[in-house]
Amino acid sequence: MSRNILVTSALPYANGHIHIGHLVEYIQTDIWVRFQKLRGHRCVYVCADDTHGTAIMLRAQREGRSEEQVIADMQEAHVRDFAAFDIEFDNYGSTNSDENRQLCGEIWQSIRDSGLVKQKDVEQLFDPVAGTFLADRFVRGTCPKCGAADQPGDNCSKCGAAYTPADLINPFSVHTKATPEVRTAAHLFIELEQLHEFLNEWTQSGDHLQPEVANYLKGHFLGEELRDWDISRPAPYFGFEIPDSPGDYWYVWFDAPIGYMASTKQWCDANGENFDDWWKNEQTEIHHFIGKDITYFHTLFWPGMLKTAGFNLPEKVHIHGFLTVGGRKMAKSDGTFIMASTYAKHLPSGVLRYYYATKLGTALDDIDLNLEEFVSKVNSDLVNKVVNLASRSAKFVAEQHLSETYPDDGGLFAAAAAKADHIAELYEDCRYNAAMREIMALADEGNRYIEDKAPWVLRKAPDKADEVRDVCTVALNLFRQIVVYLSPVLPQLKQQTEELLNQPIAHWDEIQTPLTGTPVSKFKHLMKRIEDKQVTAMIEDSKEDNAADANAQAADAAAEETAEPTFHEADTWKDSGDALEKEPMADECTIDDFMKVDLRVARIIEAGHVEGADKLLQLTLSLGGGETRNVFAGIKAAYEPEKLVGRLVVCVANLKPRKMKFGLSEGMVCASGTGGPNVFLLSPDDGSVPGQRVH
Ligand code: MSP
Ligand code: ZN
Repeated sequence: MSRNILVTSALPYANGHIHIGHLVEYIQTDIWVRFQKLRGHRCVYVCADDTHGTAIMLRAQREGRSEEQVIADMQEAHVRDFAAFDIEFDNYGSTNSDENRQLCGEIWQSIRDSGLVKQKDVEQLFDPVAGTFLADRFVRGTCPKCGAADQPGDNCSKCGAAYTPADLINPFSVHTKATPEVRTAAHLFIELEQLHEFLNEWTQSGDHLQPEVANYLKGHFLGEELRDWDISRPAPYFGFEIPDSPGDYWYVWFDAPIGYMASTKQWCDANGENFDDWWKNEQTEIHHFIGKDITYFHTLFWPGMLKTAGFNLPEKVHIHGFLTVGGRKMAKSDGTFIMASTYAKHLPSGVLRYYYATKLGTALDDIDLNLEEFVSKVNSDLVNKVVNLASRSAKFVAEQHLSETYPDDGGLFAAAAAKADHIAELYEDCRYNAAMREIMALADEGNRYIEDKAPWVLRKAPDKADEVRDVCTVALNLFRQIVVYLSPVLPQLKQQTEELLNQPIAHWDEIQTPLTGTPVSKFKHLMKRIEDKQVTAMIEDSKEDNAADANAQAADAAAEETAEPTFHEADTWKDSGDALEKEPMADECTIDDFMKVDLRVARIIEAGHVEGADKLLQLTLSLGGGETRNVFAGIKAAYEPEKLVGRLVVCVANLKPRKMKFGLSEGMVCASGTGGPNVFLLSPDDGSVPGQRVH
């Protein structure tokens, strides 16, 4: 049965360019959409720029342009970046559109009519020079606890103390350096508590959310009274003025998700479709893809708004983790804050799509782009396995035809075809990492076949032309089957294969039937190996981009926070964010696997800070018998080095030494926790001695 599926990715902010972190999400969604389309479903993928809010307003001021000009330019850049990565929207709109204004008004009216809106006075810091109210993160000052200068408005990066901006000593506005004033203004709030029962039900039942998200909401929000949601901002604000509250504007997070609808509306109008078929029809499935930082907007506020206004609720909100590069947060100074356009100058898009696919599952863990692994993995999987299958066979039948009947292949094609349902299920469930493993196993089979038949040898025998054709017919069919499996991930390879074998790939079911008798085109190179030097050049280029960018530091700070906090004070979700990082169980391992890890008791004999590292401490471990190890451990936010000296820990003694920016790391210390201040070193009981093996 064909399904009607409406898919969205989060709307990127119009105050910054698309970077490789964003691409995790847009690539993840695009793969899912291409998969659904290939399966024959009606699937529409909409997105838009998120254009409103203070940040855009201030940028426009700074650049001496209108907000409209700023967002138009950025939209053009976003559209170009997405196209370079084959991310194909059915409609790409803007939250600053007539459609959005109208839908916001309609939904607002329903919320008013339901008696959910109330007015309260809010004290907020005001920048008298910029003439604007300041969200907490735009205020900095001296930590009231430890006295560290230039700390953020909500918590100290040096001592970890949490406070409100009003507690800061010598607070200043990030924008103008002016001293903020406290001002009072009336704001409009939505009383979410009235929707508590509904939200309990919706978040905790069915399959709308990943289990860890449902648990997180239950543990952090739904267990107590839900706070009122502040959804208005006084002028000046770049956004939509609230029709029945002149001088007030909808907070950007009110109109942003409605942008999903507005973009659908544009698509409907352009394609003769009926909007209500997509947003007011139980038969339609709505799927949102978002990052974990914007979880509560999409799992509490948004369903609440939809429910109140009588629209379809999402079938599923798919939530992914954040991109790290080399195990660290992307950083401008390292050149790892890589813009999509910078990447595209140096490397092909397909390999990044594939690499992300191999990393993406349903867990909320961060996704690491390890640049060495990236090069070796895409070369060994895509070039050496997949494309090799075609290049080692297509040449010998180029400008000829495939065999008229499909030759005996020992059951290879049928066995690979039998995987179709399983692999489809993996795509459907967003377990692309597992899907890629299955597909590469098929590529291994294909390569064994061609290795064994060696058409490059056969063709030298004068009477073996038919056999060569048969072998190549099998190999090219196995190749094509793999390409169909991979086509949601690699649309360009799909297109090249269509040209090579003169046959479109229009449906997933083509996995089931081999091609016979069709002409084979002249063989053209399908994919080149990527080189380390391309990656190095990209990083260098990215460093330059950022050095040239006078705002790099501010951008780094902004990059730390994607969403403007919704509530005042320190009650943003970040406080409890680590609860989301519940780690899934690892795969089962045998006792032999476990024994490969040489865990040893060690004593920390020296510990110190590492210059230029914000997360690491340098440890010297004694393993007994005079043996020592140098280890860099990401525990700086949790431990003071002086207090560690003398302490027993458990270390991984046979870990391959790793070259880091700061030196060689020769092992690892074991700890639990989710990172940052939330790290707990494991210690053996008294009596154990350095060097002992841990069993
Ligand atoms: N404008 C809001 C979304 C409004 S949706 C109604 C926003 N924009 S954003 O540009 O900051 O982020 C867009 C999406 O990209 C979000 O889902 C966010 O989680 C995701 N990512 C941004 N940086 C990311 C990484 N470094 N890694 C993975 N995803 C990231 O939030
Ligand atoms: Zn402090």
